[in-house]
Amino acid sequence: MESDSNRGKDYWTPHRARLFSRAIQISDFPAKVVEALEPALADCRSALDVGAGVGALTVPVARRVERVTALEPSSAMLDELRAALAKNRLDNVICRSAAWGEADLAPHDLVLGANVAPIFADILRFLTEAEPLARRAIALVQNVGPGTEKFYLGELYPLLLGCPYPERDDYLRTLTLLHSLGIYAHVRIVAYRFDQPFATLHEAIDFWTEQMRLTESDQRRKLLEFLQARLEPAGSHLIAPMRRQSAVIWWQTSPKDPS
Ligand SMILES: C[S@@+](CC[C@H](N)C(=O)[O-])C[C@H]1O[C@@H](n2cnc3c(N)ncnc32)[C@H](O)[C@@H]1O
Repeated sequence: MESDSNRGKDYWTPHRARLFSRAIQISDFPAKVVEALEPALADCRSALDVGAGVGALTVPVARRVERVTALEPSSAMLDELRAALAKNRLDNVICRSAAWGEADLAPHDLVLGANVAPIFADILRFLTEAEPLARRAIALVQNVGPGTEKFYLGELYPLLLGCPYPERDDYLRTLTLLHSLGIYAHVRIVAYRFDQPFATLHEAIDFWTEQMRLTESDQRRKLLEFLQARLEPAGSHLIAPMRRQSAVIWWQTSPKDPS
């Protein structure tokens, strides 16, 4: 399975983007993160959301500040983001269809990067380029722990692929790097629900089959048994219950020329 950081922009098919959007709609992730970001948002009038995705944080931040720029390279994610902005009647967000480093960006009070794997893979580059664009603060949101809880992959790897799940770096690497640069960031760990809704058991099986690139009928049989034990009915849907934690990291940037 490809790691988060080397996913191409084609990873986000319209169906994957829709599933992500459905999960965000019932998650307390946006509320928990924005609450932790309150001190960073104080006195901010503008925000740049790098890798905005379906707008998990774009939407609540746009309610909080005057204007937001949402940078997002995937057209499938952008479609979901625009739908979320329309649904929430937000007209103070400009969507930019580009990856970090591809677009000329004006300075904003807050630069935010949440769960954007390529940023964390080359965090030094991001920090160097983001600092001049951030008038007041930079905020990062990153996973806590090795990520084994994500889609039950810590359990499913040994069961279906016969090998341990390759653990991911987490926020501590970022924090250590910031510290070595003399940036003593504020950190808050937030716990939240990130349940994944599926319309049918078939949709869930297809999702994991694709995600883990399963090819054998025996793997699909074991996956079916696993999911039958885990998925919970919720109205007309099925839910894969998941609990996750993220680190909300932020710091004030150096004062900028007001021009
Ligand atoms: C896991 S989603 C997270 C979205 C959102 N920030 C959140 O926390 O819900 C990661 C997003 O980053 C985008 N992305 C990937 N590489 C990127 C890059 N180099 N620059 C900007 N965004 C990128 C992806 O297209 C995807 O929408």
